[in-house]
Amino acid sequence: MSELMEPETDFATLPEMAADVFTAPLRKPAHIGDDWLEPRQHAYGAEENAVWNDLFARQMEVLPGRAASAFMAGLDKLDMGRGGVPDFGELSAELGKLTGWSVVPVPMLIPDHVFFWHLANRRFPAGNFIRTRETFDYIQEPDVFHDVFGHVPMLTDPVYADYMQEYGRAGWKAMRYNRLKALGALYWYTVEFGLILEAPGDVRAYGAGILSGPTEAVFATEARSPNRIMLNVDRVMRTDYVISDLQPTYFVIESFADLFHQTVDRDFDRLYRSLAPAFTYANSAVIDVDDVLHRGTQEYLLRGGRGSGAAPV
Ligand SMILES: [Fe+2]
Repeated sequence: MSELMEPETDFATLPEMAADVFTAPLRKPAHIGDDWLEPRQHAYGAEENAVWNDLFARQMEVLPGRAASAFMAGLDKLDMGRGGVPDFGELSAELGKLTGWSVVPVPMLIPDHVFFWHLANRRFPAGNFIRTRETFDYIQEPDVFHDVFGHVPMLTDPVYADYMQEYGRAGWKAMRYNRLKALGALYWYTVEFGLILEAPGDVRAYGAGILSGPTEAVFATEARSPNRIMLNVDRVMRTDYVISDLQPTYFVIESFADLFHQTVDRDFDRLYRSLAPAFTYANSAVIDVDDVLHRGTQEYLLRGGRGSGAAPV
C-alpha cells in the first residue's frame, strides 16, 4: 500500500496523488486547468435567471418549517432571494466575512481528489450551468441551483463550515485506503440527505439533495415510508445508497457540533482498516444498534418507487 496521508499535508497546493490511487476517468474540457475551475462564472440570460427565480419560489413554498433553521438563516444572510442566479463574487465576499468560505465555478462533476482539495481550502465548487424547463423537476448532474441554493446557505454556519473542510481533508485519506465509497456514504447521508432534530418531534432537513427539490423536502421530514435513524458515523459508512430515487432511510443528527465531533474525533485509519470494501447494510435496513426515531413502512419503495406512480407517502 502506498504511504498514507501525512497529517502535516497543508493542501496549499494540490497534493500529488499516488499512482495506485483510483480516480474516475473524467474528461477535462480543454480550457480547464488542473484545479478544474472555470476562468469565470457563466453569464446567465433572462430565461436562465427566470428558471432560478421559479425554482427559488417553489422551494420557499415547502421549506419554511421543514428546512433547518441554520439553512433558512443562511438564505437570509446571503440575501439569496434577491432575484436571479447569485454572482459568485458577491456571494463569496459575504460568505468570506462569515466563515471564510468561497464559491467557485466548475464545468461539471470534478474528480474526487480535486473536489476534496477545494473543500480542504474552504472553496465550494458549484456547477456553471442551470437546468432547463425540460429538466425542471429532476436532473442527474448537479446544477447551480442544487449547488448554490442547496449547499451554500449551510456554509454560513460556523460549525458546519468546519465540518465541510474536515470532510475534504478526510477525503484524501479515504482515497489512500481505497475506502472512498464509505466516505461517500457519509457525504450522502449528511451533506446531501441529512436531517437534524431541532426539538423533540421537530425534524428538519439540512442536506442539499433534500433542500433543492420540492418532493423530498416533504417526504424526508414527514412521510411514513422512510426510516429516520439517529446518525452513527460508523454504521452510516457501512450503508449502501441509491442516487436515483427518494431515500428509504434518513439519518438524523442532534446538532452540527455532534456531526463534527462524531466525524473529526474518529480514528479513520482504524475504521478504514476494519471496513469491508463493499457495503454491509442495505439502504432500507434497520439494525440492532440503531436509535430509531421513526421506523418506516417503506410503502413507497415497495410499490415500486420512482417511475411506478407510487405516492411519496
Ligand atoms: Fe450536492
